[in-house]
Amino acid sequence: MSTLGIIGSGNIGSAVARLAVAAGIDVVIANSRGPQSLADLVQELGPRAGAGTVEQAAGAGEATLLSIPLSAYSSLPAGLLEGKTVLDTGNYYPHRDGRIAELDSGKLTTSELVQQLLPGALLVKAFNNILAHHIPQLARPAGAPDRSALPIAGDDSGAKVWAAELIGRLGYDTLDAGTLADSWHFEPEAGAYTQIYLADPDVPAEQIMQAPAAPLPADKLRAALAASHRVDVAARVF
Ligand SMILES: NC(=O)c1ccc[n+]([C@@H]2O[C@H](COP(=O)([O-])OP(=O)(O)OC[C@H]3O[C@@H](n4cnc5c(N)ncnc54)[C@H](OP(=O)(O)O)[C@@H]3O)[C@@H](O)[C@H]2O)c1
Repeated sequence: MSTLGIIGSGNIGSAVARLAVAAGIDVVIANSRGPQSLADLVQELGPRAGAGTVEQAAGAGEATLLSIPLSAYSSLPAGLLEGKTVLDTGNYYPHRDGRIAELDSGKLTTSELVQQLLPGALLVKAFNNILAHHIPQLARPAGAPDRSALPIAGDDSGAKVWAAELIGRLGYDTLDAGTLADSWHFEPEAGAYTQIYLADPDVPAEQIMQAPAAPLPADKLRAALAASHRVDVAARVF
């Protein structure tokens, strides 16, 4: 891969963009406000980065990182990501996204709903179970003894191969956690969500956004995925 398109320049999109340029991957990054609003970020990212429209980011590379609130997916241009490998970082947060009956009832995982919203996209759920500030803290070169693993899930095996290769270059091992239907194992409040990367798993909730990370190797991630129970989404507090 030589170029990664990134839609969403917030906490996760900008963290992944930093890893990408550091790995020698060009990025074209977009947000809702237009390329001119990204001047400072692009300057910080350096010569491998450019700002673009959503359409330009979607067309820029072999894969696209989609990192926007779930409530914004339906406003993306129709057909934008058809046929593209899409690494989707999205999670469902009712306080932000509004209540969605199919998710509250457990009829669909968030990624299954996203697949319905983005027909034809080759969707891979990734980077959704790690806090944005942990992404740079845990990235390591391939072969490092303290490299961490991230789960990926998707229905297209070829897209998962692409995603694993990309994430490997960005600094993480990957673990195939199954299909989009299986991805509840690492949705919010499930057993393989963000808390597994905390150095102190008992850190008070109000300190989590500043709490440091600790490496999580693939075998521990596998155990966390296996022990995960499906969350009653309607009863979730956050
Ligand atoms: N933050 C975390 O630690 C974390 C961890 C795991 C997963 N996630 C999930 O990852 C996703 C992104 O989270 P985040 O924290 O990075 O969000 P964020 O900081 O709020 O950034 C969201 C980005 O999406 C852009 N956006 C919104 N609507 C758009 C549209 N219609 N077209 C193009 N861009 C649009 C925003 O553009 P503007 O900048 O122009 O407003 C912004 O750049 C969310 O689904 C979140 O639940 C977050």
